[in-house]
Amino acid sequence: MKRRYAEIAGWGMYVPPRVMPNDTFVTMGLDTSDEWIFSRTGIERRRVVEADEATSDMATKAAVQAMAVAGLHSGDIDLIVVATCTPDHVMPATASIVQDRLGMLNAGAMDLNAACSGFVYALATSAAQVESGRAKNVLVIGADELSIYLNWQDRSTCVLFGDGAGAVVLRQAKEPGIMGSTMGSDGSGAGLLTIKGASRVRASSNGTPGGSANGHEKATNGAAAAADENYLTMNGPQIFRWATQIMPRAAEQVMASSGLKPEDISLFIPHQANERIMKATAKRLGLPPEKVFSNVREYGNTSAASIPIALCEALSTGRVDVGDYVVLSSFGAGLSWAALALRWSVPIPSHVAPWRPIQRQVASRMAAVRSVLRRGERSVRTRIDKTLGKGED
Ligand code: ACO
Repeated sequence: MKRRYAEIAGWGMYVPPRVMPNDTFVTMGLDTSDEWIFSRTGIERRRVVEADEATSDMATKAAVQAMAVAGLHSGDIDLIVVATCTPDHVMPATASIVQDRLGMLNAGAMDLNAACSGFVYALATSAAQVESGRAKNVLVIGADELSIYLNWQDRSTCVLFGDGAGAVVLRQAKEPGIMGSTMGSDGSGAGLLTIKGASRVRASSNGTPGGSANGHEKATNGAAAAADENYLTMNGPQIFRWATQIMPRAAEQVMASSGLKPEDISLFIPHQANERIMKATAKRLGLPPEKVFSNVREYGNTSAASIPIALCEALSTGRVDVGDYVVLSSFGAGLSWAALALRWSVPIPSHVAPWRPIQRQVASRMAAVRSVLRRGERSVRTRIDKTLGKGED
């Protein structure tokens, strides 16, 4: 039987229009400065969502672009995976909301949470679906709005993050596009970067009060976490030290398993968290600065969106060509990490045919109408069943 491969056929990104430069934090009365933030992180500004903008909104906008580039119809997508740690709700999955908005009636939909490593995890998992023949076309999205979980009084975290979304369409191919991948986790570091949010109160071994002796989580009651636990908390220096070790190690692993040497790599796209982490990683891999993509200056750390946004910008600025080997490497809360090597295989259009976005808009309007009709049908059926006394034993 012929081997199947997966390749990226479409890509798109979205960032909210609201720009927040470093100076805003000083204006807000925080004891910080543009100089400190830029010199320690490489970040100059970030994008932040408005109160009514959800992760699914950003994810949908990035997906519409990716679908337009791929030239596929909504019905062609078999699976939607949204990598996010800031879903619209605990349930339903954000992917289901995207599925409904885009009218992808033949698609399964699920969220994947591996924090900032989420997109590479989702890409590797989706590639396996395509390679095995279980799916032909998969929409993979990385989208996060960590800004809603930031404590804007905590200068050690709030200056680092931004919001955004990036998406790719994976399709079946005869030659390898996605070559190899690696994923890893070390839960002993789970307490280093957390958002407890709507978690039940738990006693756990990861440094939170009340840790249980056997190291396993134990639900103590159903109460939501205290309000101040809704914020993102992080041990920056420990994450920094670990990240400078794990990002190059993951990249080395995936290059070795894909038969690539550093000199073969045309572009390295690391998770965009901190310029210093990226530089240290590149140095360890022996990659010159021109082979390392960075846009952390513009967007800060957009979590699961950082790598697909970087990929989109690398493509739109001519940093990737057909035949190029590209390596993605990420790290994040969990602790988690993932890396993936790919050979770029599709031509990069200088522009998308103007009718394609219009076609997408019409399709998503139709999807909205269909969604309303389905909801109406469901409520009418429920009323009829009730009237007829069905479904009651
Ligand atoms: N402005 C001014 N001073 C600050 C700020 C700020 N915004 N933030 C911290 N400081 C202070 C600290 O309080 C500390 O002061 P002290 O010495 O008086 O205690 C001093 O600056 C130095 O702090 P450090 O933490 O040692 O600074 P460091 O050089 O490590 O930089 C940083 C901090 C930028 C957070 C760095 O540790 C880092 O980038 N860590 C990695 C974080 C990361 O990548 N997280 C994302 C993970 S991915 C995911 O899953 C979301």
